[in-house]
Amino acid sequence: MEKIQAYLSSNQDRFIKELIEFLSIPSVSTAPEHNSDVAYCGNWLKEHLSSIGMKTSTVYATAGHPIVYAEHCEAGPDAPTVLFYGHYDVQPVDPLHLWTNPPFEPTLRDGKIFARGSTDDKGQVFLHCKAIEAMLAVHGTLPVNVKMLIEGEEEIGSIHLEQFIREHLELLSCDTVVVSDTPLYGPGMPSLCYGLRGLCYMEVHVTGPNRDLHSGSYGGSISNPLQALCEIISKLKDSYGRIAIPGFYDNVKGLTEEERLDYLRLPFDAEDFRKGLDVPGLYGEYGYTTLEHISARPTLDINGIIGGFTGIGAKTVLPSKASAKISMRLVANQDTHDIAEKFTTYVKAIAPPTVQVEVENLHGANPVLVEKTGKGMNAAKRALQEAYGCEPYFTREGGSIPVCLLFDTILKSPTVLMGFGLQDENAHSPDEHFSLDNFRIGMYASSLFYNYLAQ
Ligand code: BES
Ligand code: MN
Ligand code: MN
Repeated sequence: MEKIQAYLSSNQDRFIKELIEFLSIPSVSTAPEHNSDVAYCGNWLKEHLSSIGMKTSTVYATAGHPIVYAEHCEAGPDAPTVLFYGHYDVQPVDPLHLWTNPPFEPTLRDGKIFARGSTDDKGQVFLHCKAIEAMLAVHGTLPVNVKMLIEGEEEIGSIHLEQFIREHLELLSCDTVVVSDTPLYGPGMPSLCYGLRGLCYMEVHVTGPNRDLHSGSYGGSISNPLQALCEIISKLKDSYGRIAIPGFYDNVKGLTEEERLDYLRLPFDAEDFRKGLDVPGLYGEYGYTTLEHISARPTLDINGIIGGFTGIGAKTVLPSKASAKISMRLVANQDTHDIAEKFTTYVKAIAPPTVQVEVENLHGANPVLVEKTGKGMNAAKRALQEAYGCEPYFTREGGSIPVCLLFDTILKSPTVLMGFGLQDENAHSPDEHFSLDNFRIGMYASSLFYNYLAQ
């Protein structure tokens, strides 16, 4: 491993230059005007994977954004096969004016690289590429068979990945899946994530009169769609912070006493958390701790409300339409389709009869819980312990990775979630960044992971 470490450190400057190139491509998957950038990025990655020595490297077209697949499977039939999964698409950059440097002009500052996608997930994908490059450059071989699946639609719900997996079962068959798309527990505190929440993203459209109306001439005679929408929204949760949709909690796998005790052992200061966000008080479902609120309990949040006059000054108008984007984070064993149905039924039932209400399901993901033991987990545990000099925490995360459950249910392989980001690296928000320390340690940790897996 000394040679690997030497290779990693003597090539670090070049790695950063290459990462800057990768991060400069605006691969925003949700924005149609960026479709060609996403395609360009997929191609760039495919070329890069060939250049580091992967035996095959291919771009698979889908009905949406392309999937990049590469492999190096020469460790023999007795050696384990690892499937690395990551994503090269990124979130939109708005609000643009809050960025210190333009989001696609990566900038190094304070030991961090600032750019959209730096921590989520290009930086973390790239550190695996460099670990593999180092092993191939130093030894000419890899200790395990490596397959890499890197998609361009994670941030929009991995819409076409399920079909791809079902159609390529043999190609993707493996003993362990490894994903680096989650945060460490804290700086210098490695973690292995064993749970991810799911997601059910809905939009409620309320229509009132057939046109905007003078609020003096018509006000008082008809339901205002914005008012009706607010009434609907106000009935989605009760005063204990519980979600009021009938049947919403039916399949929730509650936390065991042991898990709750494990949670209490994790270093977490709710007061620091509150201060860091400048809020006068924390909120949350009655009976659970903040750490449980953000990772082990389901949620319902309004992400945005659209409607009416929002310009400067006052306009006396009664809007014709209003809508709200509402997301629910789900936990094991809730199902995104089941929740979408229950949400729709409930919203229609509580909608005032004086407006028309349509409910749309935008996208979703199922939650996942993975085993804390097994060959992959043990290899990751050893690798993190050695690279960071301390044992990893076992944590659950509040975010979602839509494909994770499919690795379990379709590929029948266990997943290791070994991430190198940090919670406060501004994923999805302005000034996203990635710590160069974790980039460096992450490269080493992942090369150790592939090695320990072979033993
Ligand atoms: N990397 C995140 C998932 C994540 C976030 C895991 C925080 C752990 C902690 C991923 O790229 C992501 O943002 N997923 C989306 C999924 C959605 C668009 C279907 C999410 O969680 O909002
Ligand atoms: Mn991600
Ligand atoms: Mn993301």
